[in-house]
Amino acid sequence: MSALPPASLVAVVGGGVMGSGIAMVAASAGHPVLLYDLQPEAAQRAVDGIRNQYAKLAARGKLNEQQAEAAASRVSATGSLSDLKGAALVIEAIVERLDAKQALFRELEALVAADCLFASNTSSISITSIAAALQQPGRLAGMHFFNPAPQMALVEIVSGMASSEQTLKTLGATARAWGKTAVSTRSAPGFIVNRIARPFYSENLRLAQEGAADYATLDALLRECGGFRMGPFELMDLIGLDINLAVSQSVWQATFLDPRYTPTLIQQEMVNAGWLGRKSGRGYYRYGGEQPPPAV
Ligand code: NAI
Repeated sequence: MSALPPASLVAVVGGGVMGSGIAMVAASAGHPVLLYDLQPEAAQRAVDGIRNQYAKLAARGKLNEQQAEAAASRVSATGSLSDLKGAALVIEAIVERLDAKQALFRELEALVAADCLFASNTSSISITSIAAALQQPGRLAGMHFFNPAPQMALVEIVSGMASSEQTLKTLGATARAWGKTAVSTRSAPGFIVNRIARPFYSENLRLAQEGAADYATLDALLRECGGFRMGPFELMDLIGLDINLAVSQSVWQATFLDPRYTPTLIQQEMVNAGWLGRKSGRGYYRYGGEQPPPAV
């Protein structure tokens, strides 16, 4: 099965951290990309941010001026979902909530052509459950990128119970054509990476909660002595603490409340406070002029 042809329209829904990165990946591969967000200003901000990223790549000599300009001009924002009707593929990167994702895909299904494929970038929600809202559930699978999407090589192609072979193969081939390493997995709780990552976060959260060590010490230890690129707290701040909590909750629920995956109170309280990490200026660390966490 071959990848989507580069001339075909890719729509990205959700103009946050992930939607912006995914739109950039598709535009870099030559696709025209339409970005829709519930908040029109978020979609426009995402398109402006993408233009800045391409300008930076050109300034660093990674692309020439013409390539950067051509790629940037392939991405545009829209405030109207109906503009997505000509898409060959819609990639969803909205809030991590099953009801919101189901409602969006139901609305999209009434708009697009019968052969349009749907991909969800969900971190942890069951692909089977998202697809169950559709009349043609076979057209939907997970296409799980990692943050930041333009730089991270891996994409999990996640099969729900009803995902068709053709959908899975086309999405896998498309991810590879976009320069990514695609791994196939099933819609098990947390898929592969977020399942493996749960104890990385939760044991560190418990150690901090028990007063064994502070965030900066744990981060520095894992980064500098453990060989991880980022420590758990700086990584949660990058991901977004709301997203991280939602993933923890959904893996815990999907494993029938297995105590190994019980979320911690700190995670909940940080979100209650509105401290969502880098995107809100404060998470486990403060941002804006702040120094990186010190070494051990
Ligand atoms: P975000 O909070 O940065 O952005 C979400 C965007 O979706 C916002 O601009 C919001 O206005 C928009 N939105 C919300 N509901 C909408 C709707 N019904 N229709 C259209 N737009 C809507 O979130 P982020 O971090 O980009 O995450 C998006 C998805 O990607 C989530 O499912 C998350 O689990 C997943 N993901 C997140 C990763 C991360 O590191 N943040 C990594 C991999 C996947």
